[in-house]
Amino acid sequence: MPTDPAAPAAVRVVPVDDALAAAVRALEVAPEQIQYVGDTAFNLDDTRRDPHSEAMAVLAGERVIGFYRLDFRAEAVGGRAFDEPSVGLRAVVIDRREQGRGYGAAAMDACAEDLQRRHPQLRLLALTVNCRNHAAIAAYRRSGFADTGELYLGGQAGPQHLMLRRLQPPSTD
Ligand SMILES: CC(C)(COP(=O)(O)OP(=O)(O)OC[C@H]1O[C@@H](n2cnc3c(N)ncnc32)[C@H](O)[C@@H]1OP(=O)(O)O)[C@@H](O)C(=O)NCCC(=O)NCCS
Repeated sequence: MPTDPAAPAAVRVVPVDDALAAAVRALEVAPEQIQYVGDTAFNLDDTRRDPHSEAMAVLAGERVIGFYRLDFRAEAVGGRAFDEPSVGLRAVVIDRREQGRGYGAAAMDACAEDLQRRHPQLRLLALTVNCRNHAAIAAYRRSGFADTGELYLGGQAGPQHLMLRRLQPPSTD
């Protein structure tokens, strides 16, 4: 069957290596979205300098369309640790030309699968998202994140929801 050229390509996630770094640096958001994520080139450098973080690229087919930071510090998100082993998701971005096609939610699904494979001891994926960032909240919800109801007030652009996605069932110990 011929493939539909307009259909979104399959999404996967891989650690950013030197070969992918330039394409990650070139990712752009709309001017009004900068308040939510900052500059991705800066975020990439900051992530690569941090021994507790990992820089991840989102690929659709062979194209780099997005980026996120995995932050493995216990208090990476919301300024506090959780009751179960967790990892923080930060600096999430899908290039402005690729947004609204389901890639954001698909990237979060791929992120969770990657963590389940490489870090099976981690039980929770945690993030904070600005309360006004409706597109991000919708994408996270579609990928299985739930709003904890807790607000984080430390963000520069206003209050943020704390959202969690389960990676592994709760411990029965
Ligand atoms: C957040 C982001 C990663 C989502 O990526 P995406 O590829 O556009 O996400 P998806 O296409 O999977 O989903 C977008 C959802 O937002 C919805 N949406 C888009 N614009 C919206 C708006 N202005 N208001 C409400 N919902 C909106 C879409 O309808 C879709 O929801 P649905 O599946 O329930 O219909 C992307 O928009 C982005 O990079 N934004 C700038 C950076 C940012 O805000 N990062 C998050 C920091 S926490």
